[in-house]
Amino acid sequence: MVGLQGAGKSTWVARHLAATHAVVSKDHWPRARRREARQQRVVAELLAAGRSVVVDNTSPSPEERAPLVAAARAAGVPVRAVWVDTPVEDCLARNDAREGRARVPLVGVLAARARLRPPSEDEGFDRVDVVRPGSPPADRRVPPPGPVR
Ligand SMILES: Nc1ncnc2c1ncn2[C@@H]1O[C@H](COP(=O)(O)OP(=O)(O)OP(=O)(O)O)[C@@H](O)[C@H]1O
Ligand SMILES: [Mg+2]
Repeated sequence: MVGLQGAGKSTWVARHLAATHAVVSKDHWPRARRREARQQRVVAELLAAGRSVVVDNTSPSPEERAPLVAAARAAGVPVRAVWVDTPVEDCLARNDAREGRARVPLVGVLAARARLRPPSEDEGFDRVDVVRPGSPPADRRVPPPGPVR
């Protein structure tokens, strides 16, 4: 997953992937040290056990995604990026509506936006999907009609 805080990643994961994939997120260990290393270890272990895995973090930059692409390569499985491309204004409004720990500091959202680079197949992804408000699920998208004959 790729997207700003409040973009709707976890909601999308719950709807589309949670039934089939192990969901890994650094948010599951808010107080742990070395969360990045721990996440990479957990992902590698799940893949080695034959599970499908979704990593539900903001992952805005190629540098943050590279270890996940590498983990998939090492396990010999395909790797897909799903970019939840929600306008930052909407992310901020949704974040403001959150309570307690779930609300992230404004600077966190803006810092993620500054690092955000759309995921690309050049990074090693076999597939890149973009989810925008109102867009249909990737697996139900139909090609545009051809020329009228
Ligand atoms: N498609 C949508 N339309 C409107 N609201 C949505 C949509 N998807 C999620 N939301 C709402 O936006 C808020 C943030 O959603 P969610 O927790 O899924 O974001 P997130 O990308 O996982 O954020 P974080 O990176 O902070 O975990 C929630 O209140 C959720 O109900
Ligand atoms: Mg989330």
